[in-house]
Amino acid sequence: MAQNWTPNSWRQKPIQQVPDYPDQAALHAAEDQLATYPPLVFAGEARRLTKALANVAEGRGFLLQGGDCAESFAEHGADNIRDFFRAFLQMAVVLTFGAQQPVVKVGRIAGQFAKPRSSNIEKHGDLSLPSYRGDIINGIEFTEEARIPRPERQIEAYRQSAATLNLLRAFAMGGYANLENVHQWMLGFVKDSPQGERYRKLAARITETMDFMKAIGISSDNNPSLRETDFFTSHEALLLGYEQALTRVDSTSGDWYATSGHMIWIGDRTRQPDHAHIEYCRGIRNPLGLKCGPSLTADGLLELIDILNPGNDAGRLTLICRFGYDKVAEHLPRLIRAVEREGRKVVWSCDPMHGNTITLNNYKTRPFERVLSEVESFFQIHRAEGSHPGGIHVEMTGKDVTECTGGARAVSAEDLQDRYHTHCDPRLNADQALELAFLLAERMKGAMDEKKLAVASA
Ligand code: TRP
Ligand code: MN
Repeated sequence: MAQNWTPNSWRQKPIQQVPDYPDQAALHAAEDQLATYPPLVFAGEARRLTKALANVAEGRGFLLQGGDCAESFAEHGADNIRDFFRAFLQMAVVLTFGAQQPVVKVGRIAGQFAKPRSSNIEKHGDLSLPSYRGDIINGIEFTEEARIPRPERQIEAYRQSAATLNLLRAFAMGGYANLENVHQWMLGFVKDSPQGERYRKLAARITETMDFMKAIGISSDNNPSLRETDFFTSHEALLLGYEQALTRVDSTSGDWYATSGHMIWIGDRTRQPDHAHIEYCRGIRNPLGLKCGPSLTADGLLELIDILNPGNDAGRLTLICRFGYDKVAEHLPRLIRAVEREGRKVVWSCDPMHGNTITLNNYKTRPFERVLSEVESFFQIHRAEGSHPGGIHVEMTGKDVTECTGGARAVSAEDLQDRYHTHCDPRLNADQALELAFLLAERMKGAMDEKKLAVASA
């Protein structure tokens, strides 16, 4: 167990991004209340995810992590969850085929409510108000009233997370995630996409594989692994009072776990080695993500790895790189070289969203071409360095929103106003998310086919 660590030892450290709760008594009451509630996930599940991620770290799997930038109370409906899951599973099938490896499925969901902000203040005209920090803290409406941090929101976030997780578990295990369904949805996407021609070949090969399995008697009726899937949850561990209240000892191992989600990550703004967020995360046994942006040096990264994964356990730590399509070539190689040189076991994942945000017509947006370009560079760099490009981390929704520009059904700068629904950053819509998966799978499969052909003709 981590030395000199307790679930509240982070309180002795400097901390960034803390909300200014006016009513401290109410805050403590909410935290005390949460501490009595049942855990949302249990330790055995987190360990299972660590194991799956260990395979990814060793080059035998791929991580797909995705979901809203920020979940919202207003949009907590079954349709939203279902549509997200549907898009996500289609991506997973396509990537599984492309990588010819198991895809570890982790949603940014059922707990992704707290947002770090670059400014404490948001200004519209003459009026300055505290920034929106996510529904778990305050309200998005630009009024003084809404922007006051309210502790009761933590209870609401817990309840929403529990309900969301409940539905996701039902979908994952109850038949909805049946591979045959997902395959049919995927074919529907290809048929309707203006770029469908481009994806048809890969889709046909998946169909062929499914038909072959059926022919030899493998079907979802006699094979549970075809109708069920392991789906995990994740969020940024930003609001540490909330996390602490849900930190519990696992009776099997005696270890501490965050039970607010299976995996939690540390943001690029809160990863100071001697600060509170790193202190909290080092003591819990869940798999951790660490966001790596342009300001992270090779030595800085090694220092953080020492603190977060002193035992060098594969699967414990996922490095989520978010540099920007034009900066990834400058920053990623030195981090890879340092980690490889020191023999540190990590999952390398690419977040092609957060370094590619621009403003068009007063909307924060992300051009699809840049998102794709960062992922492609990420893959190329890993190939060149001989390391495993282990995953992607995307902000996406199952809905047909207009938040990121580009894609096959090209969203233009003028279109952004039509369905710009995000509570924080712009997300890929369902079609854009699936396109990204297809383009990536095509590339991975191409490399694989070359290898297999070489073996066959040797
Ligand atoms: N159980 C396998 C897996 O999760 C196969 C599978 C079933 C699957 N349903 C799925 C894969 C939906 C992707 C999407 O990988
Ligand atoms: Mn975001």
